[in-house]
Amino acid sequence: MKRSTPIVAGLIANLATRPRGPRPDSTGGSGRRALLVATGAAALLAPAFAMGQAGAQERVVNIYSSRHYDTDRALYDGFTQATGIRVRLIEGDADQLIERIRSEGANSPADVLMTVDAARLERARAAELLQPVRSQVLEARIPAHLRDPDGLWFGISKRARILIVARDWTPPVPLARYEDLANPALKGTICVRAAGHVYNVSLAGAMLAANGAAGTEAWAKGVVANMGRPPQGGDTPQIQAVAAGQCRIAISNTYYLGRLAASSKPEEKAVADAVRVIFPNQGDRGTHVNVSGAGVVRTAPNRNAAVAFIEYLTSVAAQEMFANGNFEYPVVDEVNVHPVVAAWGRFKEDQLNAVAYAKNGAEALTLMQRAGWR
Ligand SMILES: [Fe+2]
Repeated sequence: MKRSTPIVAGLIANLATRPRGPRPDSTGGSGRRALLVATGAAALLAPAFAMGQAGAQERVVNIYSSRHYDTDRALYDGFTQATGIRVRLIEGDADQLIERIRSEGANSPADVLMTVDAARLERARAAELLQPVRSQVLEARIPAHLRDPDGLWFGISKRARILIVARDWTPPVPLARYEDLANPALKGTICVRAAGHVYNVSLAGAMLAANGAAGTEAWAKGVVANMGRPPQGGDTPQIQAVAAGQCRIAISNTYYLGRLAASSKPEEKAVADAVRVIFPNQGDRGTHVNVSGAGVVRTAPNRNAAVAFIEYLTSVAAQEMFANGNFEYPVVDEVNVHPVVAAWGRFKEDQLNAVAYAKNGAEALTLMQRAGWR
């Protein structure tokens, strides 16, 4: 077990006291993002740089990541500037990376595994590819429900799985909970991707925790009966189908709508303008959220650097880059969200530990498939 590295404790302290920008609801559009890129990595991290050079024994950190956003590059540069530790990046599909670490065995150069969805992080944990980390920085900055209780992985940004409905449509029955999707009055209205996709598996895993096996299977049957078409494509095509009038309700992660809303392509912007968001279950347990996250690989040759890197990801500047680069929500509460995301308003999130729904995944998938959700 490892406590916080002095390098990053200093770095975080430094960043946490940084003057705050305007609140999300008062910010403008792209101007603020440009400012963020300009100030985020270089200027704000500079004071911590000397500390990093003095404290670090490891000069490199190898990151296996299934995230590939341009903004993540600025993030890696920021870490190198702050600590003097070079980032070597291996990108790939999450399952490929997990398989690669497994096949590399004790000789794997991998220090950090970064991926999206708690179920995939849980898969890496179950394959015994991750090691426990104790870090006061991570435990203080990341809410408990967004990380593994034993420190095997940590959520770094959040995405909510929401309902996206046609803006000009008034549902014939209340539509405020995931459970409402099973109401027979909504026949022919739902567009959603395949049952087997990890986002739906995790959502159903959360339903399982809330409503039990029989309740979840009945719900899945109701959703299948209300589908406007057989599951096909990713989340974006579901939103497009709502805008096109093919369905009334899409189940989607928030950032897909963010990408459409911020798009420079008029046809994508038009899709976002044709819909509105519903954050489900605001009157009870809250909306299901999932994470992008990271864990330290069990055989990490540069363990200190790996912990330092994950701690760095919780700094204000890194949180802004990490979350806003993909229209996600930061896990650190006081960090500004992208204006497009802020425009949807604040919401109550389900506090169920990500490990709990991730562990429910296999059973949840069986229930969905038995209900006929392809
Ligand atoms: Fe996604």
